[in-house]
Amino acid sequence: MLYDLDILPTIMKTSKQIWFNGEFIPWAEAQVHVMTHSLHYGDAVFEGIRVYGGAVFRLDDHLERFFESMKALEMESPYDRAQVYDAILELLRREGTIDGYIRPIAFYGDGGLKVGWEGMPVSVAIGVLPWDGYSSSELKLKVSDVRRFSPEMVKMDAKVSGYYVNSNFAGPNALLLDSEGNVAEAACANIFFVQDGKLFTPSTGSILPGLTRDTVIQIARDEGIEVVEGNIKDLSVFQEAFTTGTATEICLVVEIDNHKYDSREVTSFLQEKYSEIVSGKNQKYKKWLIYVD
Ligand SMILES: Cc1ncc(COP(=O)(O)O)c(C=O)c1O
Repeated sequence: MLYDLDILPTIMKTSKQIWFNGEFIPWAEAQVHVMTHSLHYGDAVFEGIRVYGGAVFRLDDHLERFFESMKALEMESPYDRAQVYDAILELLRREGTIDGYIRPIAFYGDGGLKVGWEGMPVSVAIGVLPWDGYSSSELKLKVSDVRRFSPEMVKMDAKVSGYYVNSNFAGPNALLLDSEGNVAEAACANIFFVQDGKLFTPSTGSILPGLTRDTVIQIARDEGIEVVEGNIKDLSVFQEAFTTGTATEICLVVEIDNHKYDSREVTSFLQEKYSEIVSGKNQKYKKWLIYVD
């Protein structure tokens, strides 16, 4: 099955309530003013987290990145990590969500439209959407003329809403290059290539350092598969390619422009391991699962 990396329409179901600034309120009441600073200037940060069979995957790591993203935008969160952690678990309990997608967001609120963040109030909200993901998928990507933002322009380690204008310009099935013409990442996923059993992936700098990327690197190294992080330009030298991301997990890439990738051996192996890990069948990585109870 070929599909689009643009998965969000498939998870746009509603839930009963939203956690908003410390309170659980009905979905329809979780609204902001049109003069909200982040709506105008793109200075919100967010996370996408999955819950599988009642276990949240890598919650601590997602919250670490969420709070680091806030720091990058000089946001002082009115809620600490433990409060956001508890709010996510309580929201999952209240919603009865066993398989789903969790979306925390922090944004600069209704404090005027001056450019700059001083004195701007910060709001935090969390939504939980029921979703059980894809069954299987293959991607055809195209190298975009739109280049990825570079670290000279923005803080690339942060997951900032405004950066998605870059992804949207490129389109859902784009492969973006960095400002020097090296492979960076897909519009909303990281990318890996396979050559003679070794994994190659762009180093951090012009990419979001994805947690699924990190998971794949850890699994591969544990399984004795060499992983090389560095610059990638020539797409013709690889036998296999795949993307990684929380929402789309590990997706086989069968084509990038006129390069065809016929092999799927390493990708299938990693997909199988990943699915064992998120479903709690692999004891070695149990530490990554937080059960809602
Ligand atoms: C631009 C971008 N790169 C990479 C990723 C993958 O990150 P993660 O594996 O943490 O979901 C995402 C996913 O949200 C993304 O939006």
